Amino acid sequence: MFPDIRPRRLRSTPAIRRLVAETSLEPRHLVLPMFMADGLDEPREIASMPGVYQHTADSLRKAAAAAVSAGVGGLMLFGVPSPEDKDARGSAASDPGGVLNRALRSLRSELGDSTVIMADTCLDEFTDHGHCGVLTDTGVVDNDATLERYAEMAVAQAEAGAHLLGPSGMMDGQIGFIRSALDEAGHTEVGQLAYSAKYASAFYGPFRDAVGSSLEGDRRTYQQDPANRRESLHEVDLDLAEGADMVMVKPAMSYLDVLREVADRSPVPVAAYQISGEYSMITAAAQKGWIDRDAAILESLVGIRRAGADVVLTYWAAEVAGRLS
Ligand code: PBG
Repeated sequence: MFPDIRPRRLRSTPAIRRLVAETSLEPRHLVLPMFMADGLDEPREIASMPGVYQHTADSLRKAAAAAVSAGVGGLMLFGVPSPEDKDARGSAASDPGGVLNRALRSLRSELGDSTVIMADTCLDEFTDHGHCGVLTDTGVVDNDATLERYAEMAVAQAEAGAHLLGPSGMMDGQIGFIRSALDEAGHTEVGQLAYSAKYASAFYGPFRDAVGSSLEGDRRTYQQDPANRRESLHEVDLDLAEGADMVMVKPAMSYLDVLREVADRSPVPVAAYQISGEYSMITAAAQKGWIDRDAAILESLVGIRRAGADVVLTYWAAEVAGRLS
């Protein structure tokens, strides 16, 4: 019996495939993570992330303007302080003159409201021990003392011009605590993209290089266990109850099932972060000639969109936005 039903009909030409594609990828869906570092005379390529740079103030402005003209939906900023500016409480994070707050101020004055300027709200780049919070005497991350620091950092970032804060430290209660601090300081318009389901992932490896992290050990007492699914739904519910404006699943490619489930139940937009290790794996395989770089990048991003992400943070945001438009 030859088949009566032939799904291949809808795959037979580029035009018909385009007509029936269920998932789209547009520049506005993409957010570019960017790094500004202190102590540089010129931009420095990150060894483990070929094609990604730590920026000077000047190169940051130029790269951000280029990304915005390519049509990206937003920018997510990280600061890399000089080692001598790191301390146990991550003071530079809430200092208006700290590297991240200077980056925010400069981009907001350059770009205004023409894009969405986001800030990583977390202490790990700024602490000398490299953890995402402050430590107790016995070296454990102190949840509630860390919340006080996040609140100070958040207000400083709002004052520096961030539109959207990205609390990524996985402390309990961080979204609600930051919300109250922002509101009390009069920043009711500044929102939060909550890193709700953030897993303790080996794929963050290259990022630690990107921000010159001082971390020894791991983040398993605050980031989630990769074995868990239900826990992510709980974290999302808590963040929504605390006032999250958007929620995120991170990393993306090893957690697409979690992303799908969060997207199915979330009443707010859902983001996913295609992280450093995901970037570097594709880049390294392409450099060896083992995969078709451009096709692999697009397929990875379409896959993340298909799993339910409204917004995708990716180090390829500007490049892909340029290719799509
Ligand atoms: C924490 C933070 C991390 C990333 C974004 N925010 C690192 C971590 O949790 O260790 C990782 C991003 C990436 O790997 O691309 N401030």
